[in-house]
Amino acid sequence: MQIHASIQGVRQALKNCARIVFVPTMGNLHAGHIALMTQARAHGDTVVSSIFVNRLQFGLNEDFNSYPRTFKEDCEKLEAAGIDLLFAPRESDLYPEPQQYQVDPPDIQNQLDGAFRPGHFRGVATVVLKLFNIVQPQVAVFGKKDYQQLLILRNMTRQLALPIEIIGGETVRADDGLALSSRNTYLTPEERAEAPRLSRTLAEIREAIGKGDHNFAKLERDAMFTLDNKGWKTDYVAIRQQSDLQAPQPDSRELVILAASRLGIPRLIDNLEILI
Ligand code: PAJ
Repeated sequence: MQIHASIQGVRQALKNCARIVFVPTMGNLHAGHIALMTQARAHGDTVVSSIFVNRLQFGLNEDFNSYPRTFKEDCEKLEAAGIDLLFAPRESDLYPEPQQYQVDPPDIQNQLDGAFRPGHFRGVATVVLKLFNIVQPQVAVFGKKDYQQLLILRNMTRQLALPIEIIGGETVRADDGLALSSRNTYLTPEERAEAPRLSRTLAEIREAIGKGDHNFAKLERDAMFTLDNKGWKTDYVAIRQQSDLQAPQPDSRELVILAASRLGIPRLIDNLEILI
């Protein structure tokens, strides 16, 4: 696996490569990331990943400084996954000057997770567009774990006519249902034992909807109540249309249940698709 920190180095190395598939990350890789890498391999000839903890997408009170950085272990995992090239820029490589030109997504950036993380999706869209311009992939793979991120990046790619196919990878979970996340490392043993309640709560909503309960507002409220009663601080539980993450219409068939909740300090997000 080649490792490059400079934009120039990546451009040079990828100059003559056929069909490039790209999987951007912030590192601290787990089986969820690796599943995306494996999926990427099936879509092209050259698999490129990146590791960059992107300051632009972190709020001032968020965990930019403490975000887990495990570069050596990450490299070993990427090597084992057969990645061809890793782009691992320093901040001075990617942002040699203040990034004043940014991608400002439409109002969806202020909803759901965006309502609790102002500027987050602006930072995500900006870095991903910049990474796309550097790597110039034909295909890029993102996880459904970050459902709103995937939607925003898909829409950005389409509206800006980027010649890139966006692929969504399924969420990889621990045996007890907890969606894998780099932030799970923040959980104390007690919190880790409690954490699967989030995915269980989403599964219960899915079951209720499946049985014909379409009182979405009540299902959302009850789920928040259940979580908060168990010591969680829930930002939202929301039942939305998959296509645009807006409220379901009477004829909506493809829905997704999304949630974000704090368990102690860590903030966990999860979602579950459902067809009705
Ligand atoms: P990061 O959180 O490192 O995630 C990198 C990719 O892995 C994202 O596409 C994310 O959705 C996916 N992923 C995370 N956990 C997953 C799981 N349990 N199962 C499947 N896929 C999972 O998302 C980011 O980084 C950043 O915002 C980034 C897009 C790199 C821009 O900075």
